[in-house]
Amino acid sequence: MKFFIDTANLDQIREAQDLGILDGVTTNPSLMAKEGISGTQAIMQHYKTICEIADGDISAEVLSTTYEEMIKEGDELAAIHPNIVVKIPMIKDGIKALKYFSDKGIKTNCTLIFSAGQALLAAKAGANYVSPFLGRLDDISVDGMNLIEEIRLIYDNYYFGTEILAASIRSPMHIINCAKVGADVITSPLSSILSLLKHPLTDSGLAQFVADAKKLS
Ligand code: G3P
Repeated sequence: MKFFIDTANLDQIREAQDLGILDGVTTNPSLMAKEGISGTQAIMQHYKTICEIADGDISAEVLSTTYEEMIKEGDELAAIHPNIVVKIPMIKDGIKALKYFSDKGIKTNCTLIFSAGQALLAAKAGANYVSPFLGRLDDISVDGMNLIEEIRLIYDNYYFGTEILAASIRSPMHIINCAKVGADVITSPLSSILSLLKHPLTDSGLAQFVADAKKLS
């Protein structure tokens, strides 16, 4: 399973990259705004910097919502760095844009996926990744993990190469459950990834080992 970090914060991307387990980065307009990035040049430069810090696929989301604008914007984003994946919203023009980029050999991530039907359409259009939003479904009392299972079944039935990129991750349990049901990728805040490290028996066990190690020297 690939681990992506879901942030535009450069310090957190560096920290995750330094851990040695990072496979990519996802961003969205809200995450970019949170970092105070604004203006086309600043956005482009920020993506370039992210590509220099992190290895792997870096999702850069288009800000427009019409086919013509999305392909123009996506072409410009893809030109920033070979690792850029153009992130396209799940709308009718987005399907057309996914097909356009797929035909051009430019990688895509179809975002704002909330149903199996949407995931099926994105795969048909040639998306490299689909991003089902687990946490936002859980927020409205719909089982987000069930959606991941449905998409896994559909993609396996027809050998779709589209990767399931579980997004809107809110906890380490989301990550573990995604691993159980076969999501290809999770994109998560750094805090949830680091929470996977924690266990009180590890802490107490290590404290004992460190204490006993002193007796050995
Ligand atoms: O990148 C999209 C997704 O991960 C957003 O998560 O927490 O805003 O629902 P969240």
